[in-house]
Amino acid sequence: MKHKILVARATFPDVVARLEQHFDVESNQGDQVFSPAELAERLQGKDGLFATLSERISAEVIAAAPALKAVCNMAVGYDNIDLAAASRAGIKVTNTPDVLNETTADFAWALLMATARRITEAEHWLRAGQWKKWRYDVLLGADLHGATLGILGMGRIGQAIARRSSGFGMKVIYHNRSRLPEELESGANHAGYVSKEDLLRTADHVVLTLPYSPQLHHTIGAAEIALMKPSATLVNIARGGIVDDAALIAALREHRIASAGLDVFENEPALNPDFLTLSNVVLTPHIASASEPTRRAMANCAADNLIAALGGRQPPNLLNPEANRKE
Ligand code: GLV
Repeated sequence: MKHKILVARATFPDVVARLEQHFDVESNQGDQVFSPAELAERLQGKDGLFATLSERISAEVIAAAPALKAVCNMAVGYDNIDLAAASRAGIKVTNTPDVLNETTADFAWALLMATARRITEAEHWLRAGQWKKWRYDVLLGADLHGATLGILGMGRIGQAIARRSSGFGMKVIYHNRSRLPEELESGANHAGYVSKEDLLRTADHVVLTLPYSPQLHHTIGAAEIALMKPSATLVNIARGGIVDDAALIAALREHRIASAGLDVFENEPALNPDFLTLSNVVLTPHIASASEPTRRAMANCAADNLIAALGGRQPPNLLNPEANRKE
């Protein structure tokens, strides 16, 4: 008999068709966002879950789904899943690393450039009919070339961002839980390790790429923003909750830093409405990995993990080898 799975949100139809070759699939192509209670209800009798970052797989949801053996997230981040509770319940959990590194790094640069050079603000100004004449000081921004780029969180995506900076002749500094091996610092990343405080004090542009965990909640709050240069930009492509949004809004309003580019927010998609009142922030709806080939690769990667996990094989991107076997 085929294993039963739930595909929690709409995804590429050919990936659903692939899953149907292996499993008895309940697929949410209508793309309703399930409440935790609805999710638990849909998971009754399901062996596997193809999840996205919008489902919160809490200890309660896990406890309510006794048949569940694998949760395969279509995202590199997995802060939406209670990994410890899943491991205790013998549920294998996987993510989609690597396939999105380059696309996400491209986007970090797009957001950084739009923020530093005030691209969206300029377009809004032009569309509002305010472009009446040339002026020497209209919409002056910050330079990227020759500036110091500070990367907080130097994993695979942080390193892909660092590699791209050489075309701009930038100095790269980084801070990370653990320092990179010498060959990675001096090689293509050409990045120097500094403390978090030195990074915030020195960088002209700060990019956040660290994964979210409760310990890293509000890694950037009022005290950290106070260390930054008044001319600095802050870009967050990591996760909402890494930045204290209220503190950032206050700093942007008072021009204590120049600008911010944000792809992620606390409580997204319900972002703090005060962001919408500010002109020195560029706002995007969590799309850093959203290129057609990359989203397709992520969906196939999650499917590969599910097919392996329920087929009794080690999934390629297993996050919790400590999960007890559950057949
Ligand atoms: C996107 O934010 C992801 O974690 O893949």
